[in-house]
Amino acid sequence: MIRTTDVARRDLLGFGAATMLSTLLPSAWVSAAAPLRPTPAQTEGPFYPVVPPAEHDNDLVRVSGRAVEAVGTILHLEGRVVDRWGRPIPEALVEIWQCDAHGIYRHPRAPLQEMADPGFQGYGRTLVDRQGGYRFRTIRPVPYPGRTPHIHVAVLVPRRMRFVTQMYVAGEPLNERDFLYRALRDPADRAAVTVPLLPADAIEPGALRARFDLVLDL
Ligand SMILES: [Fe+2]
Repeated sequence: MIRTTDVARRDLLGFGAATMLSTLLPSAWVSAAAPLRPTPAQTEGPFYPVVPPAEHDNDLVRVSGRAVEAVGTILHLEGRVVDRWGRPIPEALVEIWQCDAHGIYRHPRAPLQEMADPGFQGYGRTLVDRQGGYRFRTIRPVPYPGRTPHIHVAVLVPRRMRFVTQMYVAGEPLNERDFLYRALRDPADRAAVTVPLLPADAIEPGALRARFDLVLDL
């Protein structure tokens, strides 16, 4: 398990102006600011786990009992779950799932299960902290036949509809040929789910980091 630390401080540096307003101003004033654009929903896809793996924490790279970590480039993924006024949604549960470094999902209907990386958890989930922050240690998503690299993300909020989307990698040439990415017609929607991967050697040598904030229209 890895912990969410310093998320609130980084949020103030890395989030939009409306979010900063919502953080700094009384709620009555915030309502006058332009609301944030909701993150677009995307299909769940066929490989959401039938049954969550026995280990389903927010470190997908390390599986208990295995000396060797997952194959692939480590990615430290973090973000916040907020409403359209930038307010944290403190009860949110964030799930991610993705294929391993060989392009294989951990799922009974996914092909090539016998070649799946046993060191990759494939799925993880975590509750957000009081600022709405979440974080995962996973691998950089890779392409598989028919799809550009992506990470599936779902958010569960008590008494609300489950929200599902996908995160894409900025600069990936396959994005423009991906049918689900292309289904996002509005450039602003594409921008909302496309994040840069940045070097994160200060966190872990050779690793990358990314920030994916989720704005829910509750
Ligand atoms: Fe997928």
